[in-house]
Amino acid sequence: MADSTNEQSSFWTQANALLRKNLIFQKRNMKTNIRLVLFPLVLCLLLVLIQVLVNTQLDKPSNRCGCICVDTGKGPCEKKCGIEYSTLEQASSCPIPHPPEWLPLLQVPSPQFRAVRTDFTSYGDLPGDSCRKTGSCPVTTLVTGNNQTFGQTVAGNMFSRPLNIDSSDLLYSLADNALGSETDTRFTNFLDTAFLSNVPIDILQPQCSSNSQISVTIQLGATALEKDIRCAQGLQLWRNSSSEINSELYKGYLKGNPESKINEILAAYDFVNSKDNLFNVTIWYNSTYRSDTGNQPLNLIRVARSINLASNAYLQSLLGPTAEMLFEFVKEMPKPETKLRLDFSSLLGPLFFTWVIVQLFPVVLISLVYEKEHKLRIMMKMHGLGDGPYWMISYAYFLAISSIYMLCFVLFGSAVGLNFFRLNDYSIQFVFYFLYINLQICLAFLVADWFSSVKTATVVGYMMVFGTGLLGGFLFQFFLEDSSFSKAGVIAMELFPGFSLYRGLYEFSQYAFNGNYMGTGGMEWKDLNDSNNGMREVLIILAVEWLVVFGVAYYADQVVSSGTNPLSFLRKKQKNLQSSFRKPSLRRQGSKVFVQMEKLDVDQEREKVEQLLLESSTSHSIICNNLKKIYPSRDGNPEKFAVRELSLALPQGECFGMLGPNGAGKTSFINMMIGLIKPSSGTAYVQGLDIRTDMDRIYTSMGVCPQHDLLWETLTGREHLLFYGRLKNLKGAALTQAVEESLKSVNLFHGGVADRKAGKYSGGMKRRLSVAISLIGDPKVVYMDEPSTGLDPASRNMLWNVVKRAKQNRAIILTTHSMEEAEHLCDRLGIFVDGSLQCVGNPKELKGRYGGSYVFTMTTSPTHEEEVENLVNQLSPNATKVYQISGTQKFELPKNDIRIADVFEAVGNAKSRFTVQAWGLADTTLEDVFIKVAKGSQADSTLS
Ligand SMILES: *[C@@H]1O[C@H](CO)[C@@H](O)[C@H](O)[C@H]1NC(C)=O
Ligand SMILES: *[C@@H]1O[C@H](CO)[C@@H](O)[C@H](O)[C@H]1NC(C)=O
Ligand SMILES: *[C@@H]1O[C@H](CO)[C@@H](O)[C@H](O)[C@H]1NC(C)=O
Ligand SMILES: *[C@@H]1O[C@H](CO)[C@@H](O)[C@H](O)[C@H]1NC(C)=O
Ligand SMILES: *[C@@H]1O[C@H](CO)[C@@H](O)[C@H](O)[C@H]1NC(C)=O
Repeated sequence: MADSTNEQSSFWTQANALLRKNLIFQKRNMKTNIRLVLFPLVLCLLLVLIQVLVNTQLDKPSNRCGCICVDTGKGPCEKKCGIEYSTLEQASSCPIPHPPEWLPLLQVPSPQFRAVRTDFTSYGDLPGDSCRKTGSCPVTTLVTGNNQTFGQTVAGNMFSRPLNIDSSDLLYSLADNALGSETDTRFTNFLDTAFLSNVPIDILQPQCSSNSQISVTIQLGATALEKDIRCAQGLQLWRNSSSEINSELYKGYLKGNPESKINEILAAYDFVNSKDNLFNVTIWYNSTYRSDTGNQPLNLIRVARSINLASNAYLQSLLGPTAEMLFEFVKEMPKPETKLRLDFSSLLGPLFFTWVIVQLFPVVLISLVYEKEHKLRIMMKMHGLGDGPYWMISYAYFLAISSIYMLCFVLFGSAVGLNFFRLNDYSIQFVFYFLYINLQICLAFLVADWFSSVKTATVVGYMMVFGTGLLGGFLFQFFLEDSSFSKAGVIAMELFPGFSLYRGLYEFSQYAFNGNYMGTGGMEWKDLNDSNNGMREVLIILAVEWLVVFGVAYYADQVVSSGTNPLSFLRKKQKNLQSSFRKPSLRRQGSKVFVQMEKLDVDQEREKVEQLLLESSTSHSIICNNLKKIYPSRDGNPEKFAVRELSLALPQGECFGMLGPNGAGKTSFINMMIGLIKPSSGTAYVQGLDIRTDMDRIYTSMGVCPQHDLLWETLTGREHLLFYGRLKNLKGAALTQAVEESLKSVNLFHGGVADRKAGKYSGGMKRRLSVAISLIGDPKVVYMDEPSTGLDPASRNMLWNVVKRAKQNRAIILTTHSMEEAEHLCDRLGIFVDGSLQCVGNPKELKGRYGGSYVFTMTTSPTHEEEVENLVNQLSPNATKVYQISGTQKFELPKNDIRIADVFEAVGNAKSRFTVQAWGLADTTLEDVFIKVAKGSQADSTLS
């Protein structure tokens, strides 16, 4: 039966309408947008400024190469220049044309970790663990080979040199000894940590005398280094095979064990098949300290000296103790000056950029909540906007805004030269930001369902922005950098999207910082393989969460927008069962009520509906059949019957007025008809379509003028109508014409009113615009909820004319509290009390039926009240007194009993007997009817 002119608009038509509306909306929001985009720009500039300050600070003369601050003990330090470098920082950036010569060292384990007898090694030749307390444990070397005699002879030569320190040629004489240090190395050897730290250098001897610590002075350019040298006993132990060495080393190297279980050795030698004319050796050494973290360059390892020791010892076993290949010193290559670079943007980046990016969250959220708070979403839905187009366009729209914002952000950052952006591979950045903004939009959709006011959404949104940044910077990063905190724990924290964002930015900044410092690049795709790089997990988490949150948000939105609760699909069955059980009994009860009340008109309407339902086609636009809404009992309150078995048929061209006291169920009825709530039982057909199943198609031929104006403040009247017109499938010239006619009809066309923002309209103009919206696109059925409330009489008249003209070829259901309006506009009226219609009919009929009396009023002095009463009783014995107050009395006189002339005569007589201050005789008004019906049915319901 659907009218062919009200073809349902296609997905793309709806999408197009929404997109155009959004674009205009966005254009109006230009200022906010500019402010939004400026925010990252300002932050980037701020970072650049900080960077400039840091750079000038670093370039200060006091930080120049070749100068050193010498503490003289009194006052500020004294500056000495002309030194090539003095600190680690200077060594890394200053030119070093003559690198210093360092003595070659062995990597000696610290005294408290040197190998001792323990319960997990079976070798009795190791020292007891009491030496760990005094720090005098020997440094162990393990030896094996095919020929034990040969192996032990060679090994015995290693540490056998007598202590020989010649202060005239210190370096040379020291290099003759087996020296070692327990300090960690660095990735260059311009400054050897062993000589700069205050840990003594170990000198390995077969035996140590008790007082074996000496102090030497090593000259380094212009500075002299005081260095302690202490003796450490070199212990060599024979093992039967290399596999024994392997297992012993493995047991002593138990990562993560308590300190007492660490058993470190200096090195191990396997002489294999070495003999007098063959030297074939395998050396074990420890390289674990090479690098602390994955993205740092590798540290040097001290292994050269241990090879030299073995070959020296072999040489001596062949040629005697005087033979020697002296390994005098090691030194780095010379290097030019490099600029000292500290990349501030990378250090502060994660915190600042988290703020920048999360800032989009409240923007999206507020926009969604705005449409929800102002009920615009529902309004659009009622005018035919499907969920699919709504989601697609809203999503694409927010994605576009976010993308543009992020693009500006990255472009600004790169343009002002922040390494954070320039060094890291742009394709990784793109994927990361793209995933995150998608997730963020989905989250906003999900969270928007929980908010009903823009204010709370704003507050919560911005709290989230700052909270995420600060928690990320001061809590999450702490866990991230704490190596003892488990990786799983970090990943668990990253499930919170803000933290995964922070982690990603943190990784970018780490790579940018190190890349800049070392002069290498930032993060590339192959770096995702890096075990310390959390980016891979972050990308996976973001992608998975995006899909999950999208699904949940879409489902939640369906549930919320259709007004059912999330478990509705479970309940449905139960409800249907209930209602089918109850139906017969309620029906009987219902018919009893009809008889009691003699609501013949209501009964007739019901019969008419039953008749109409049997016919296959009908000219009736709306047919309600036993529509019922019961709100389930809650908090101990009984079930509430909002609408009880309502049957009603409206032909095309009729305006039906619904009167009723507040809380009578009018709104529930309208809400069911416009699809906001589902009927508990019964149904209604609009243009032949069932409201339970075909609401989406009904929307295209339906218009709604809600009680409160649901308008976008920044859109003009014309734009509103264009938008809703497009939703109603109007196009091109037809659309323009329809909008113009509509504007003219509600008198908003002239004087540029149509192109003013709706937010600036007066109450009356807004109301008229709402009515125009409800009528655009020629809907066949229109619902108007109190269309003229709060209007001045002139505007009201204007509005009435619009409605009157509009009702010609459509059915209108109108609720109102104004009897005048009802009488003026409606062809039929229904008085709705306590969930059911009390009477139906046109205004005249109703007045005739319920108001078969005149109202007679007379005011006298209180002493004459009785005389007035007598007078009335003479006129009609069936008169009833309606009220009496200090001399004023009101009576109802049945029309059949009296003639008006008699009344005038009687009053004339009375005037001669006593003073009558005022009197009047009036026909009943609709208001009287309304009050009577409302009262009657209430009395009835209290009786039953
Ligand atoms: C083991 O080495 C010693 C000393 O070099 C040599 O005299 C002896 O012959 C070797 N033994 C074997 C079995 O090769
Ligand atoms: C090593 O070999 C010697 C002689 O063959 C033997 O006495 C000793 O028990 C062996 N040691 C181990 C730990 O097997
Ligand atoms: C190797 O060196 C690291 C770092 O100094 C240390 O933790 C580890 O215990 C050493 N391993 C062995 C087997 O000596
Ligand atoms: C040196 O030892 C290895 C085993 O460690 C062996 O494979 C190789 O043949 C030996 N070289 C010579 C020249 O004997
Ligand atoms: C990542 O590492 C694995 C093994 O650790 C290796 O097989 C793979 O080729 C690496 N991939 C890249 C891109 O380097």
